[in-house]
Amino acid sequence: MHLPLKILLTVTMVNVFIFILISRHNGRGKGFQEKVRVPSKPFWNKMTPNSGYWNRQQQVLDFWNNPILGNRSGADLPGWLNETHLSFEPCQPDTGVTTQVKDYNSLPLRFKDFLLYMHCRYYPVLVDQPDICKEPPFLLLAVKSLAPHFDRRQAIRQSWGKAGAVANRTVVTVFLLGQTTSGDHYPDLLPMLSYESDRHRDIIQWDYRDSFFNLTIKEVLFLDWIQTRCAGASFVFKGDDDVFVNTYAILSFLDGLSPSKAADLFVGDVITNAGPHRDKKVKYFIPESMYIGSYPPYAGGGGYLYSASVATRLHATSRRVALYPIDDVYTGMCLMKAGLAPEKHKGFRTFDIEEKYRSNPCAYKGLMLVHPRTPQEMIQIWSWLNQPDLNCQ
Ligand SMILES: *[C@@H]1O[C@H](CO)[C@@H](O)[C@H](O)[C@H]1NC(C)=O
Ligand SMILES: *[C@@H]1O[C@H](CO)[C@@H](O)[C@H](O)[C@H]1NC(C)=O
Ligand SMILES: *[C@@H]1O[C@H](CO)[C@@H](O)[C@H](O)[C@H]1NC(C)=O
Ligand SMILES: *[C@@H]1O[C@H](CO)[C@@H](O)[C@H](O)[C@H]1NC(C)=O
Repeated sequence: MHLPLKILLTVTMVNVFIFILISRHNGRGKGFQEKVRVPSKPFWNKMTPNSGYWNRQQQVLDFWNNPILGNRSGADLPGWLNETHLSFEPCQPDTGVTTQVKDYNSLPLRFKDFLLYMHCRYYPVLVDQPDICKEPPFLLLAVKSLAPHFDRRQAIRQSWGKAGAVANRTVVTVFLLGQTTSGDHYPDLLPMLSYESDRHRDIIQWDYRDSFFNLTIKEVLFLDWIQTRCAGASFVFKGDDDVFVNTYAILSFLDGLSPSKAADLFVGDVITNAGPHRDKKVKYFIPESMYIGSYPPYAGGGGYLYSASVATRLHATSRRVALYPIDDVYTGMCLMKAGLAPEKHKGFRTFDIEEKYRSNPCAYKGLMLVHPRTPQEMIQIWSWLNQPDLNCQ
């Protein structure tokens, strides 16, 4: 054989060998990669004419945020995206909706209220705890509450929300409140609330009307709040004040996560293939003039758990998603925009456990969350979990 031919042959063999090595390596890498669960279908149509008011608002946002879709100077920037609008003047109702939503006049009052203020995202903070995360906690427990629910908050403080004292991890608990005013026939609770806030220093309150349809405002304001006041927290739990949370189970679940799993964490009681209720009598009724389409996968608002990194991404994407009157669906919409999907964990029991197990202490050991529970039940279950001789199989 000629020498040059020999060299050529050797070089080729070496190349083939390297190729095989590399492709084997890649193959192995793929096997180890965790599966990314990105939903395959978009849940709203992009630029087709739509009779849903939310859908149209969302199209304007998509248009603004995706120059690829066309010429931006053609469309008006929604007021709330215009930073120069950030002022301390109260946000004015948008009376344009009264003509832009076709059945506006026949809609129940809560829809009219929601639509008029749908563009308002900033409300001043009335009570804040600027130093509560001075030492960044491992877990931030954020509880959506309503001013009159003093007993629920106190039960949470005395049970699953016990800050700092739990396990070997720092836990900080805050309660998220809006305003309950005489306009909605609430009694004047301000002096009691100030006392509670001075005493426990765990109340965050914003100056907007606390109502079911304004829970999305609570979500958006809380996402802002995390970034300014508690960005150092590793994980965030957000839930209602009528749930029992097994903080021990949550902490041990979080401790067991791989770093990559922890970074993209968003778990709860996930609802898939849902859509708006069209029956006027249901609490979650949404008229067709407001929203067309199905819902993205979302975790029931009773309580869900996510990482600091997801909190940052939710905060960024919430500016690209028009407010929706149902807060947990809205969070699902933001997750989808961020290219994330909530993951179902069977420890989140927002529809309760079977009745026959409810008074069995061991039923709560492996759970992360159960809904609903009264203040007394919360304290009872917490004491069961803390029995040193609790012996469960
Ligand atoms: C974008 O639209 C504006 C107003 O409609 C027009 O003046 C401008 O020339 C357009 N720009 C491009 C690049 O098409
Ligand atoms: C933002 O708001 C200011 C004040 O209202 C206005 O002058 C400006 O044109 C707005 N910018 C855009 C891009 O709409
Ligand atoms: C508490 O956690 C720290 C750091 O995570 C660890 O070094 C320490 O050993 C733990 N203490 C106990 C009592 O588990
Ligand atoms: C939401 O809050 C704003 C500001 O307080 C209020 O004007 C509006 O009526 C509220 N919307 C609903 C649906 O309660």
